[in-house]
Amino acid sequence: MSKVAELFESLDYGPAPESPTPVLEWLDRHTRAFDLFIGGRWVKATSGESFETVNPATGQPIARVAQAGPKDVDAAVRAARKAFGSWSRLSGHARALHLYAIARWIQKHSRLFAVLETLDNGKPIRESRDIDIPLVARHFYHHAGWAELMDTELAGYAPLGVVGQIIPWNFPLLMLAWKIAPALAAGNTVVLKPAEFTPLTAILFAQLCEEVGLPPGVVNIVTGDGKAGELIVKHPDVNKIAFTGSTEVGRLIRVATAGSGKKVSLELGGKSPFVVFDDADLDSVVEGVVDAIWFNQGQVCCAGSRILVQEGVGDRLVEKLRARMETLRVGDPLDKAVDIGAIIAPVQLEKILRLVRQGEQEGATIWQPSWSAPKDGYFFPPTLCTNVAPAATIAQVEIFGPVVVLMTFRTPAEAVELANNTPYGLAASVWTENINLALDVAPKINAGTLWINCTNMFDAAAGFGGYKESGFGREGGLEGMWEYMKAKWEEQADGRTGGRAVKAGGKKAAGPPDRLTARPSVDRTAKLYIGGKQVRPDQGYSLIIHDAAGRLAGEVGQGNRKDIRNAVEAARRAEGWTRATAHHRAQVLYYVAENLSIRAAEFTTRLARLTGVRGPEAAAEVELSIRRLFAYAARADKWDGHVHHTPYRNVTMAMPEPLGVVGIACPEEPALLGFVSLFAPAVAMGNSVVVVPSERWPLLATDFYQVLETSDVPDGVINIVTGKRDELAEVLASHDDVDAMWYFGGAEGSAVVERLSAGNLKRTWVSYGKARDWSDSQQGEGQEFLRRATHVKNIWIPYGE
Ligand code: NAI
Repeated sequence: MSKVAELFESLDYGPAPESPTPVLEWLDRHTRAFDLFIGGRWVKATSGESFETVNPATGQPIARVAQAGPKDVDAAVRAARKAFGSWSRLSGHARALHLYAIARWIQKHSRLFAVLETLDNGKPIRESRDIDIPLVARHFYHHAGWAELMDTELAGYAPLGVVGQIIPWNFPLLMLAWKIAPALAAGNTVVLKPAEFTPLTAILFAQLCEEVGLPPGVVNIVTGDGKAGELIVKHPDVNKIAFTGSTEVGRLIRVATAGSGKKVSLELGGKSPFVVFDDADLDSVVEGVVDAIWFNQGQVCCAGSRILVQEGVGDRLVEKLRARMETLRVGDPLDKAVDIGAIIAPVQLEKILRLVRQGEQEGATIWQPSWSAPKDGYFFPPTLCTNVAPAATIAQVEIFGPVVVLMTFRTPAEAVELANNTPYGLAASVWTENINLALDVAPKINAGTLWINCTNMFDAAAGFGGYKESGFGREGGLEGMWEYMKAKWEEQADGRTGGRAVKAGGKKAAGPPDRLTARPSVDRTAKLYIGGKQVRPDQGYSLIIHDAAGRLAGEVGQGNRKDIRNAVEAARRAEGWTRATAHHRAQVLYYVAENLSIRAAEFTTRLARLTGVRGPEAAAEVELSIRRLFAYAARADKWDGHVHHTPYRNVTMAMPEPLGVVGIACPEEPALLGFVSLFAPAVAMGNSVVVVPSERWPLLATDFYQVLETSDVPDGVINIVTGKRDELAEVLASHDDVDAMWYFGGAEGSAVVERLSAGNLKRTWVSYGKARDWSDSQQGEGQEFLRRATHVKNIWIPYGE
């Protein structure tokens, strides 16, 4: 007779299947065919076309779903526009009640959603039941809270209008919740397109909307493939696009929306590092790897797909991982004891297989457990690749499957370098028992989410989103709410274009003749300011500057592509500024303010003579510029993050971090205040900048060199390149080492900047030719500027019992 202990070793798991019957009955009640949900009604696609959705675990079709075409998408947008007025005018409390009702309904029907999700997507029922659906409900509850608080906490903000939302197949209902909950909370209406592989839980959600009495048109669900997505992206009456999916499509969306004025948030791919230091608890690490790469078959944008392990423990970790992989169970996702379900579709399975083969050809050692995955349906075994070079394809490309690569490092510095050796920056996970080490590397890894001794944790209260080419914008918490709102003054300002902005009374008048500007001498030709030095422009051309009365006022260097490249290099070299303390940054800005203040009279005269405004008006602009510098010095150490109450054994610190190198194209007017109002917040937050000042009145910026030189601004933190603004802005917008681009100029220039930014998916802030009142305390200064100058990293730290 065997001992009990031996039984544990020898006995196989019995099947523990979840019954699909209630879902099958629901499907049959609908004759396994579904239409589009538009304006609160179920309508057929005008083309009559439909497509099949398939169960990845069996390869068998589940239902037919309508394919939306141009007329259908247009009808959905119109329905959303119609609903927008009354929905946005509802009190926050009334909207909260709707969101609350949705959350309740999801909880009441959680098993129906979970089983349907598993049938349509292939993910293990354990995950859809215990992770996806509870998080969906949590998102609606959390955002019911934001709706409730909108009228008090976010009183200065308004919804955007109609929001187009396009989601992927890996977390179908969860991505829907991440998109719809904040949009509705803020008062927007939505047109959402689920992925073509997984439309069914979105359809069940549409039924929920009917049942809870959500007003018609507030949520519209249009099913279809990428073409339907493109129709939403290009629809002229959509105010915002929120997208989760591949980086490739994210880029297409950035280009397609360029210049349209649509707000865009993109949550894209990743190749997230999973960093293991030699003092980490290796058994916990192994379970961490299971969650990092075998959760949802590795089809997770933030999957920990690159294990970086400290050399001394590399072999032990590989051994332990292989032992654990032997015990993982791949199979029927409806079986409650299965760890890894089915891959979404044959095309994805082929992609995984192709990449693994390529990894092998490039010299990697591929290891899979001794057992084989089921042959019916689309299954792939857990796979560990060792002997992988950092530049190998499988170390760089998002595989989006249960395949992890493992590389070693020697020192923490090397770990950080390897971790950042990717164009992506979605997430990272760091394992060590040494909190000092963890918190030392956390700020150095470029990623939107950083998990310490944990991985793949998500919550509605914490923002989620990328750095670098993993996209921009956040989902979750207040960080995510900003993506669905705009300042109320922006609504009023819509339609206003051009014009001077500093109000100081008095008509424009020609200033007194200026001996200097009447007879400009060669040695007054201002150079460029790069790396803390005044340098001649590369090509040796100058631009002649006239005053408002048409007289010669001076000359400035005409910067070109090469000058911009030099300035970007200098700005990148100045990155020590990102690590300077906020107190230190404040001190430098106070010093700049003081030195401008000492020269106030000189700047006032220059401004009056150049632009022809009266003395008091010029003095007001100089005074306001000084005040603005003081204000950003004051704000430098006050743009705090948050500690989110995420409901696990940890705290989540949301830290605003600088973007890196920011390109700034200044408005033509007000020449001094516009320039100061833009570089000051960027620099206060720790960025280094390359500024193209007003093309018409650049002399205010070139006069500023001496202020900078006497103010202890480190070399390269502020670089100024004068010349043709739009030409230089184009160079900045297409430069791959520029992280963000702010452009305050015409509509066409704004479109060009947005389009060119798609290369490295830089964050953009453009004005579409609309004026803002730079002297206004909201329009010219404040939180929006700080938000634009930073992005948030959420660091999850184990805490408490
Ligand atoms: P995808 O990016 O093509 O699809 C995502 C969504 O975008 C779907 O709803 C699709 O219909 C829609 N779409 C496709 N083309 C579009 C267009 N031109 N305009 C507007 N919407 C469009 O991703 P796909 O093809 O399903 O997967 C390909 C690869 O993308 C995967 O192997 C994986 O590497 C990556 N991926 C990453 C995801 C993430 O969460 N980061 C999610 C899904 C896929």
